[in-house]
Amino acid sequence: ITDAFRASILYFTDDPACNPDAMHWHSDGLLLLSGEKIAAAGDYHLLKTQLPPELTVSHWPGKILCPGFIDTHVHYPQTDMIASPAPGLLPWLETYTFPTERRFQDSEHAHEVADFFLDELLRNGTTTAMVYCTVHPESVDALFIQSEQRNLRMVAGKVMMDRHCPDFLRDTAETGAHESEALIRKWHGRGRQLYAITPRFAPTSSERQLVLTGELASQYPDTFIQTHVAENKDECHWARSLFPKARSYLDIYDQCGLMRPRAMYAHCIWLDETDRRRMAETQSAIALCPTSNLFLGSGLFHFEPAIAAKIPLSIATDIGGGTSFSMLQTMNETYKIARMGGHYLPAASMFYLATLGAARAMQLENTIGSFTPGNEADFIVIDPQATPLLARRSQHLNSLEEQLFVLAMLGDDRCVEATYICGKKYIS
Ligand code: GUN
Ligand code: FE
Repeated sequence: ITDAFRASILYFTDDPACNPDAMHWHSDGLLLLSGEKIAAAGDYHLLKTQLPPELTVSHWPGKILCPGFIDTHVHYPQTDMIASPAPGLLPWLETYTFPTERRFQDSEHAHEVADFFLDELLRNGTTTAMVYCTVHPESVDALFIQSEQRNLRMVAGKVMMDRHCPDFLRDTAETGAHESEALIRKWHGRGRQLYAITPRFAPTSSERQLVLTGELASQYPDTFIQTHVAENKDECHWARSLFPKARSYLDIYDQCGLMRPRAMYAHCIWLDETDRRRMAETQSAIALCPTSNLFLGSGLFHFEPAIAAKIPLSIATDIGGGTSFSMLQTMNETYKIARMGGHYLPAASMFYLATLGAARAMQLENTIGSFTPGNEADFIVIDPQATPLLARRSQHLNSLEEQLFVLAMLGDDRCVEATYICGKKYIS
């Protein structure tokens, strides 16, 4: 045992919607580390016998220790265009996204944005993310170099797009695949860095590009895949008209071999039952992006059919379509979208989705997302009374569920008191 932290402890070992023993809460808890790994988590009075006599315990009374949040879909180059007004996804891409992403041909600019972006994630308690870079390989190097300097576990990839975008952001089917393969060899599994094969979305890739992308994905089966699907009705019509032979928008990716474990599909609002069955069969996962879906007016994700189909589910910010870096604010908007669809999402499920649920969706269980012994010690210290309103509201709580629910609804970056990466406190 090298480090010990005493506070309340919250983590999951299973999905609380399916297993009543999934959530672990220790109001006076002890988290023990062995170097960069979790050694144990439990009740202080039970675990204190394991404390080496000379070790000082970091005591955080009234605070909550929980695994670092995981954001399964976010665009780092869009940091500087967050909250840009536009009537829907496609005009928003044309007006703001493409000109903003152009600047990442300049490696110095990419580093400056990646540096800010990663600090902002950490300030919000997010310790792992699946990150879109731009079409420029330099933008991927910048993100991974900045991530490596902080010892973060990040998943990222170069955007591939070879049509329906400005010339200055266009690759070709061949250069996109070659550059991606070179980046996989350079970065995938180097330290904590992991690579995601990243076709932007079907409308900006030729069929040949998607086919080569699928070949790359089968050649490197433990890499990740990330793309967008069924986000917005205009986008769905466009995708269908470009690939008339496909059964559905999702089927375009399926036909090219892009559905498999470690494939993360952002949005998934406008799927049908056959699509949902394919998601579950192939162990492809959903990244639900609530602040983005509301901000861009894309639509309301339907929980019940996704849960019934047993599709791996996670929640994500989708910066800069999304409007907050905070996974607590993302829980808040997830809850409201669920309610609008008649589904009730308990607080336990929201915290699960942002931690172990995401790790499972990414096939990184037993690495991150929980306090299971041997996991990497990425965790946060939450102050549940960080604001005057939270402090006042905390005087009137009747249950743990109420406490966590209030935190998910009213909390944000102000509640993240500290972020630990592999057992070390992060200082920007
Ligand atoms: N679909 C294709 N590209 C994008 C993007 O950058 N953001 C969002 N939200 N949807 C997309
Ligand atoms: Fe996105």
